[in-house]
This record gives sequence, C-alpha cells and structure tokens, in this order.
Amino acid sequence: MRALHTLALLASSAWLLVSGQTDDVCRIQDRTYSPEAMPAGSHQPYDKLSPAVGGLSTKFYITVVNLTPHRLRLANTHSYQMDAFDFGDVPPGRARQNAVKYRGGLSRDDAGEAYYLVDGADQRFAVRVKSYSGPRPRRVVLDLSGMGLGQREYVFPGGDTAVSLVVAGSRRLGFRASLRHGPGNWMRGLYDVIGDRPVRHLVMPGAHDAGMSKITNKITSIGSRSNTQNQGVSIYDQLRAGARWLDLRVGSMAGLAVGNTGESLDEVIGEINRFTSESPGEIIFLPIRYLVGRYAFPDGGPILWGAAMVGEFFARLRGINNRCLDLDTSTGFQNHRASYLMDQNAGKGCVIPLLSGRLGAGVPRESPGDGIYDIGRMGIDDRWSDQMRADVMAPDQIGTWRSAVRGGAADHGNLVVAQWLVTPDAVAATAYSLQSFAIQPTNPSLYWAGVNGMDPEHWPNVVLVDYLGVQQRDQWAWDSLSAEMYTLAVGMNLYMASENCDVNRRRGPLRSAPKVSRGVPWNGIIFANGTTVDRPPPGIHPGRAAILRSGTVLGNGTVLAASVPNPWL
Ligand SMILES: *[C@@H]1O[C@H](CO)[C@@H](O)[C@H](O)[C@H]1NC(C)=O
Ligand SMILES: *[C@@H]1O[C@H](CO)[C@@H](O)[C@H](O)[C@H]1NC(C)=O
Repeated sequence: MRALHTLALLASSAWLLVSGQTDDVCRIQDRTYSPEAMPAGSHQPYDKLSPAVGGLSTKFYITVVNLTPHRLRLANTHSYQMDAFDFGDVPPGRARQNAVKYRGGLSRDDAGEAYYLVDGADQRFAVRVKSYSGPRPRRVVLDLSGMGLGQREYVFPGGDTAVSLVVAGSRRLGFRASLRHGPGNWMRGLYDVIGDRPVRHLVMPGAHDAGMSKITNKITSIGSRSNTQNQGVSIYDQLRAGARWLDLRVGSMAGLAVGNTGESLDEVIGEINRFTSESPGEIIFLPIRYLVGRYAFPDGGPILWGAAMVGEFFARLRGINNRCLDLDTSTGFQNHRASYLMDQNAGKGCVIPLLSGRLGAGVPRESPGDGIYDIGRMGIDDRWSDQMRADVMAPDQIGTWRSAVRGGAADHGNLVVAQWLVTPDAVAATAYSLQSFAIQPTNPSLYWAGVNGMDPEHWPNVVLVDYLGVQQRDQWAWDSLSAEMYTLAVGMNLYMASENCDVNRRRGPLRSAPKVSRGVPWNGIIFANGTTVDRPPPGIHPGRAAILRSGTVLGNGTVLAASVPNPWL
C-alpha cells in the first residue's frame, strides 16, 4: 500500500525530475516557517462586549494567517480619513493582526485598501475597509479573486474585534482560503499527507458541548438560550465545518438526551450518519461525558446509571454507522496511525465513541466488540482554563500546548485538547450571551494569539471552540458560516506539522504536491447580507476605490494633493 502511494506521488510530480530532486525526504534546511517576531496584537477589551459600548468602537482588526510556504508581502496601501491603517507582511506560518481605526462618526467616506502579493506565486489579494450607510456600516471585503478564491464581505463581529482571513496551500498545490468551506471529508483529502502520522500528530477542530445547538428545555433550571447554548449550528453542520471531536454530554430524563436539553441522542446519531454517508473516510471522535440521570429539578441530584440504563445507551450507540469494532487496544488510540482508522470499514473511516461517566460498580464502561470504548483507551491532556476573559485564557492554553514537543526524542505521548473558550459566570453569560463571548473576544483571538503560539514543534491536536463556524451574530445558515477553523485545520496538517521533519519524514507536501482535493473552483462573491453571487460579471469588486481622492494617504506616507485614478486596480 505504502509503495503504491509513493509511486503515485512521484509519477504525479513531474517537477521532481526537472529539478533533479528525486529523493522524497524532509530536510530541515528546506524549512520555510518563519520565526520572525510579529507585532503584538490586542484582545477585545472586556467592556466592548456590551453592545452600548462596543457599538461606539472605531477600531477594528483584520487578522491575516499565513499557512503557506510563501511570504504574504504587503505591496501597497492607501487610506482616506482613517486614523490608523496598519498593515504589514505576514511571513510563512505566522499571523498578523492588522489594525484600522476609522476617524469617527459614520462618515461614509472612510476607506482604505491593502494589497498583498503572494511571494513566488504570482498571486495577489486585497483587503478593503469601508464605511457604508444603513445597517452593518463597517464592512471589510476580502478580495481573493486574484487567486481564484472569490470575494467575501464581512462585518466586524463587535467593537474592537477582528475579521480573520486564513490562507493555506501553496503555488504548487493550489491555495485555499477561509471565505468558504471546502469538501466535507477534509481528512480523506489529506490522506497522503496524514495517513502515516499517529493521531497525536494530527490537528482537528472540536465543538465544545456540541449537542447544545438548540435548547429544548427538558429540565427546569435557570438555563436559557443566552447562557447555555454553546453552538449555533447542528452536529451535521459542525462536521461539515471540519469538527472531528464532538464533546457530548448525555443524560437520561424522558429518554436519552444530549446536554440534557439540547439535541436528542437519536437526532445526533442521525446527523452523524448523514454526514459520514456523504463524506466517508474521516476519523470522528465522540467523547461522551456524564452518563448521569437527572430529576426534573436540578437540586434533586444525579442518579447514577445502572446496567440496564447503560445497556439501553449502548443499544442506541449501535445506531452509529462506521463504528470501529475491536480496535487494537494494545496501545493508546493516540498512537494509531491515521490510516489505520481511515481505512476501517472499507475506507469509510471511524466514528469512535469514547465514554467517561459516573457509573455504579459492576456497570460496563465500554463494549469494544460494538466499537464503543472507555475514554481511558486514549492518552488525553485536556486543559480547561475556566476563565471568563479571553486575554487570560489565551496564554494559559498556549502555554499548555507549548509544553508538549511534537516529534523526535521528546515527542509528547498524549493528545492535547485545547479548550479555546471562555467560561463566563451566569450573570455575564445572561447579559451578553455565550455567543457574544465566543464570536467577539474568543474565536478571533485564536487566529493571531493562538496561531502565533504555534510552530512546527508545538500545536494542539484538538482546538475545541464554542460557536464553531459562526462569524456574525445569529447568522447560522450554512452559507453564512465562515471557514477559518476548517482552513486552519487543513493548513496546520498540510503545512505547519509537515515542516517538522520528525513528524513528516517525507518531502514537504507543499513542495512535492501529493493529490489533495481542492474542491470545486469558485470565484463568486458572498455579501454581508448573506446574498451569494456564484458567477459575478467580471470587474465587480465591492468597496474598491477607482479614484484616490485628494487627502488619501499612501503606504509610504505620501498624502495626495489631488485626486488621481487608483493605479493599483
Ligand atoms: C445584499 O447586498 C447586495 C450587495 O449590496 C445586494 O445586491 C442585494 O440585493 C442584497 N440582498 C438582499 C437580500 O438584501
Ligand atoms: C510614494 O508612493 C507613490 C506611489 O507609488 C510614489 O509616486 C511616490 O513617489 C512615493 N513617495 C516617496 C516619498 O517615496
């Protein structure tokens, strides 16, 4: 099997022969990851979570994440009536939080553009910032039409917060950006890259409290949508958005429910099966916690499950398709090669329930013959910061994964689960909603603070978030989601981990071009109001300035004394 793959790799890589480089070996001197220091970024100040305060913000960020071997070079900028317009180069493997500050009020003329070149790839993209009248006045257009990756108009998710752009791939392999999601089975698309790696050398998105995408109020408590709903989209859409680690809490009440008041267990199973039938070949972990019954009133306390209840639970879990029966338990699951799991079920992959519960004595904790396992089968370091503020959580999480070296003699033996999420107290969660905590301070900070805390030797295996894929408040339709996390996962596996020659022994995939599914080419426009135009007429670039007006500041500091046609169109 292995030999066949290598052969196919060489055959499809004509350039190897041209360059005379016929050996498929990772070399440290080929590393492109840049240790260059990046300017410090800023977390959203806590008071800006309040719509009344955040609504007055004039300062915002556009984070650019570079998971390619090419430098993203700032070619030029121009800005008009902006008090700050600070953009810069983004070296390979790094992220830059670029800052803009509108002059104030809602002057409709505040605007600016930053033009980037992809070094060595003859590709370009632009970032456009502008004020508009009406709803959602401050918008950003990420224009990647010059790379064949479309355009998307974003609104900032809150005051002093960021819109993020993640770019992955390479000139040789083609690029991918976070404007929209790629194929559901992203792992299968990376089979040639990740197949030989142990699970503990993978990077996967995770969904925290994944079943809580709706509130069904099956128990009486102070829980409301605002303070208990952790996800905006269903399990099915979380999987399409890249999640491979679904954190589930199951309890019994009137039947088996996930998160007690979220989706029912049968709904969850139906959605997983729908996903795996459409997108086979993935590894999906279902860490399932609690396994306690509840009385209708929370202060009635938990009821431990007995053998009959566990039997009923296992019977339901047997409804999951592509379980992996009788996996090799002689080593921790984190040590299995990805291909061992992806090849199961005739290549349809694995869905692996990992149970941790409070069970009575003598009650079975797993059933390997059914593909149901105790969570102890996998070595996991799961770090929950239990912090309300993202600026406190972020260094704690980064410190956790930085203490685990990847590859080589010091290789960290366990799977590291980073919980990139905050835990507001009930008052704050009710006042501002968990959604606001997720999409304003927390998720955007992953793309500058988190990414700059990663390098080829240090990264988390699972990045667990709230409101996976949600970029704009209450915009939960599939087409309104944004693919930063999906693109981060692809780019981390394809680029960052591959730059580590103890993780990837072969020549970097971005140089030797294995077959990676790129999805259907698309160069459309997604507007902030959700309207998508798949085939726009040529020449449509929302927010573009055709004329640079008198008073425009150029990137080199020159202030135009007279209006001129924009020379960089
Ligand atoms: C959304 O915005 C675009 C561009 O401004 C506009 O052409 C379209 O009509 C809008 N759609 C809706 C439903 O408002
Ligand atoms: C600044 O850039 C503009 C446009 O490229 C150019 O015409 C001008 O000479 C530059 N000014 C300086 C001081 O370099």
